[in-house]
Amino acid sequence: TRKILLFADFGIDDIMAIIYAYNEINVEIVGVVAEYGNVQKRTAIRNAKYLQEVTGRDDVPLIGGAERSLIGVPPIYYPEVHGPEGFGGFVPLSEFIPEGEENIFENFHQIYDIIEKYDGELTIVCVGRLTSLATSFILYPETVAKVKKIFIMGGAFNFPGNVTPVAEANIFGDPYAANIVFNFAEDLTIFPLNVTQQAILTYDMVNYIDQVNKEANNKLGQIIKPMMDYYWQFYKSQIPTITGAPLHDVITLWAVFNEQHIKYVKKPVSVVTASGNAFGQTVGDFRDFVQLSEKPVHRIAVEFDYSKFISRVVEVLTTELIS
Ligand code: BDR
Ligand code: CA
Repeated sequence: TRKILLFADFGIDDIMAIIYAYNEINVEIVGVVAEYGNVQKRTAIRNAKYLQEVTGRDDVPLIGGAERSLIGVPPIYYPEVHGPEGFGGFVPLSEFIPEGEENIFENFHQIYDIIEKYDGELTIVCVGRLTSLATSFILYPETVAKVKKIFIMGGAFNFPGNVTPVAEANIFGDPYAANIVFNFAEDLTIFPLNVTQQAILTYDMVNYIDQVNKEANNKLGQIIKPMMDYYWQFYKSQIPTITGAPLHDVITLWAVFNEQHIKYVKKPVSVVTASGNAFGQTVGDFRDFVQLSEKPVHRIAVEFDYSKFISRVVEVLTTELIS
């Protein structure tokens, strides 16, 4: 079982990743860092808390991450993709953090404690902006070498970006943070948009998951359809022929224990932090003759076995979900 500290921004595919992870026997979530990104930090914490309550996993430490990026301007949120509260068309009947209790999630130092506790065996999976992870690298540099592996969803290498022609949302949201992580991480694996775009959960699969969960009267399972339908509508407005919506964040998490089903290359990677129309672009140096010792070299996913991935996800989401 892989021990995972998950950093997420709690939009739809982040929520799908955590529902999947809480029910996947091959992984154990040992901490969740909820930060701004798809929604604001406050909403991300509420969503994470809600999911812990409905799954009975409130034993997992929930840590408040970053509220804004290192860029120095207010963050842009994406309600058109993830819904006003990050759950698409589903509205959780759960309170935001009660007034006066916000401080309980000002507990960033717990990241240090978790890395120390699982010294050498922890995998960090980051499926949102890299602001919180970069901040923990800055505050606790000695912990970087204690993390076994880091997997991130972000960047685009041979596909248009999704926020600009060349940049993907998680990197564009804070390229300075991405630069810090790319420069200091010792064992980093990147799942870029051009790969995660293919991790499609189709409309038919969503209906099947919904039907099974309705028959089992499983409430958690029943939030999947209103979320995924909303998410699909967004993708359809961009790509009319698309048959479903991509689970960017789920494939990144699944990858942690599915080495044999993924093809990777190791290449130097950098991120454009200079202002201009390439801001937030990830640049992979794919030239054969380039010395791999020159720049930070990381592992980039290029292909995965779709049927292995999607069949496992559907299997987990249709076996009795904890709730
Ligand atoms: C990434 O941005 C968000 O919309 C998704 O949650 C994913 O992590 C894709 O660019
Ligand atoms: Ca995300």
